[in-house]
Amino acid sequence: MNKNIVILGTQWGDEGKGKIVDYLTSDSSYVVRYQGGHNAGHTLVVNGKKTILHLIPSGLLHNNVIGVISNGVVVSPLELIKEINMLKKNHICINKRLFISRSSPLVLQYHIEMDIAREKKLGISALGTTGRGIGPAYEDKVARRALRIGDLKNEKNLSMRLEKIVSYYNHQLVSFYKQKPVDYKIVLRDLLPTIDVIYDMIKDTTNILHRAIKDKKKIVFEGAQGSFLDIDHGTYPYVTSSNSTIGGVLTGTGVGPKHLDYILGVTKAYSTRVGYGPFPTELFDNTDKHFSNKGHEFGSTTGRKRRTGWLDAVSLCQSVHINSLSGLCITKLDVLDGLNEIKICVAYRNVHTSEVISFSDIDDWENVTPIYETYPGWNRKTLGIKKLEDLPYEARNYLDRIEEITQIPIDIISTGPDRSDIILVKDNFFI
Ligand code: IMP
Repeated sequence: MNKNIVILGTQWGDEGKGKIVDYLTSDSSYVVRYQGGHNAGHTLVVNGKKTILHLIPSGLLHNNVIGVISNGVVVSPLELIKEINMLKKNHICINKRLFISRSSPLVLQYHIEMDIAREKKLGISALGTTGRGIGPAYEDKVARRALRIGDLKNEKNLSMRLEKIVSYYNHQLVSFYKQKPVDYKIVLRDLLPTIDVIYDMIKDTTNILHRAIKDKKKIVFEGAQGSFLDIDHGTYPYVTSSNSTIGGVLTGTGVGPKHLDYILGVTKAYSTRVGYGPFPTELFDNTDKHFSNKGHEFGSTTGRKRRTGWLDAVSLCQSVHINSLSGLCITKLDVLDGLNEIKICVAYRNVHTSEVISFSDIDDWENVTPIYETYPGWNRKTLGIKKLEDLPYEARNYLDRIEEITQIPIDIISTGPDRSDIILVKDNFFI
């Protein structure tokens, strides 16, 4: 029985997790964000209306669901308030149904200034971060100097600690990066009004989740970013600063593995990545234009054009392994409509030696070139199809091949942006 479901991305983020979280949460009691911060961008379309969430769990669009931002997430109180207000404007009230871990590290202005200053200084070696201060905020956590959500409850102490931390940052910002200093009084001034709004949301979220488990409530764990942006398992150093693979759920919530009943890997029918770093199947031709335009491949957080490419089944298999995936959800299948042929990367070759190399043997991504299998495309529309048997034969063929390579089932297929554009292949998801 799939009581507690983890939904995570198997590629470089932007797989379309938000929509799937929203869909599967309709039957759940809790939805939990467990890593990342407002670098994420989850786009949801409900009855044609688009909502983009960065920090608040996507499942909160359902009025009966309780949202949790757990300890693994870094939280910008200013961004959180912006999102709460945006939802309020759209008549979605999160009153008494959003809880934030008191252990979540804060993201504040000095993190953002540092993120931007570093990227600027790196020049052509920049990572292409979202510039949201996520890396520096996680650094503070590991360095044991972070201000955390719980610290907002002690205003006097907060001001003292803020002054100290800002002076640490200013030393680097001014002396090394030649940037303007940050004024801690302004950081404090902006922060104080947020405390009243979030005060009652601050909780021991691990405890809340364990109570929910005891009460046999269903929980959806919502991943952000994707497996190859993971700080340990991703294409380092072109990664984010958290564990976007399965381990992030455990450390980021305090819920152990025996309570995770099903792990869904969300996979786009092709590949995209924003920011810099290795991308073996990247395209620079008309197919890139097709993916960009038809798939609206522009970042929902930064607006940057996403790099696009064919599906990379080598890295997908690695994702299946490192995440212990139970099944896959293939998203944006409809974006492939109208292509004459479709390719899947099934192996990597070393460009110098022509040897086939396995994922774990890659020490230099520059030397990797993809080996493709090519399949016929389809000319019919798959947009909005809701039954597997209504898909064109060629689309079924493509999906069958993905299952064959990855050795796990495709349990959900998304055929368009709307909540209802979905094929539920596995029939006992909602038991
Ligand atoms: P950071 O997370 O802002 O430090 O950025 C590090 C890398 O992760 C950059 O390549 C970003 O573009 C990428 N990244 C961060 N969040 C997301 C996301 O939600 N989707 C896709 N890429 C992301």
